[in-house]
Amino acid sequence: MKPLRVLFVEDVADDATLLHLELRRAGYAVTAERVETAQDMAAALARSPWDVVLSDYSMPRFTAPDALALLRSSSQPELPFLIVSGSIGEESAVASLKAGAADFVIKSNLARLVPAIERELGEAQMRRERREALAALEQAIRARDEFLSIASHELKTPLTTLRLQVAGLLRAAENARSNLSDDKVRSRLAAVSRSADRLADLVDRLLEITRITTGRLELDRQDLDLCALVHEVLTDLDTSLRESGSAVMLQADPPVIGHWDRQRIESVVTNLLTNAIKYGEGKPIEIMVEDLGPRGRLVIIDHGIGIAEADQRRIFERFERAVPERHFGGFGIGLWLSRQIVEAHGGCIAVASRPGEGSRFAIELPKIGVAA
Ligand SMILES: Nc1ncnc2c1ncn2[C@@H]1O[C@H](COP(=O)(O)OP(=O)(O)OP(=O)(O)O)[C@@H](O)[C@H]1O
Ligand SMILES: [Mg+2]
Repeated sequence: MKPLRVLFVEDVADDATLLHLELRRAGYAVTAERVETAQDMAAALARSPWDVVLSDYSMPRFTAPDALALLRSSSQPELPFLIVSGSIGEESAVASLKAGAADFVIKSNLARLVPAIERELGEAQMRRERREALAALEQAIRARDEFLSIASHELKTPLTTLRLQVAGLLRAAENARSNLSDDKVRSRLAAVSRSADRLADLVDRLLEITRITTGRLELDRQDLDLCALVHEVLTDLDTSLRESGSAVMLQADPPVIGHWDRQRIESVVTNLLTNAIKYGEGKPIEIMVEDLGPRGRLVIIDHGIGIAEADQRRIFERFERAVPERHFGGFGIGLWLSRQIVEAHGGCIAVASRPGEGSRFAIELPKIGVAA
């Protein structure tokens, strides 16, 4: 039996019962309520959701056009509204349809009732789906625009440094009496090189987003040791770790070998560790690499700002962030990229966190395909 919630606007109880029976015969499990005044109808609409309103045309204290107007200004304005009446004049019928009634059925010809309701339910469903699709589209466009603005900003920062350093070096080279020491030149070139690396890194991430969204993410698997890889990432992030003040406690029982994409897994570990540094408030960071037999597991725990329960799903989506943009820089794609990569390996990623206490991110990767 298909469930159907019907609000009858009808002054004759027997007539409502008749319609009820007709719907039951057609295989509906009907939940119904009967109202005959505007006040009762408004209360019923406010109280619970309905699938359809079946209204008599004229009642002692109420008419179908009044009921329709009330429905349209209620919290369920798009409910299908059908008139079921003993008789209805041509003029009233036209006026009702003009006012937005979906259809009218004459009580002596109830065979039309069920098909009319079914057609209206189908159309209501279509309207709902269209509205949802539109809302999703609008949300995607908003996210894209926001992303473009963040991305431009993120690219601009290293670019500005790079241009300033290069301009300084150029000035020095053009000025014959410049007394820029070799050390100063070297340190400026090092800054140029860091900015260029940062830019290349950002562009790589943008390309990776495109590869994933266009379904062209291909893994380049090889046997690798997760413990060794974590050590490498720690070395790469040495400077930012020292700047952050966070001490690292690493617990690993090497080797944990699986058949994984080295560059991709390295970027997952980098993303998680960068987050632990960025959001870790300088407190210690614990890292565990474990061999679970058929899977390898990496856990990264920080004791920083933490993540509200309500945000813990959302942050794995593209461009989603749970911190103010002004406070912490970032694209909002690190976790999304990580999830895509981990899932492409057949693994999973999860978070447990409490605001103000810190976060625990864990990934598990099946070792499948390890060469004998
Ligand atoms: N360890 C953490 N502690 C607290 N919040 C976190 C942590 N890791 C992630 N988050 C939250 O999840 C959001 C998404 O993280 P994600 O790494 O995807 O993006 P991001 O760090 O903002 O930018 P980027 O793309 O540059 O990494 C962050 O903006 C932050 O709100
Ligand atoms: Mg991040």
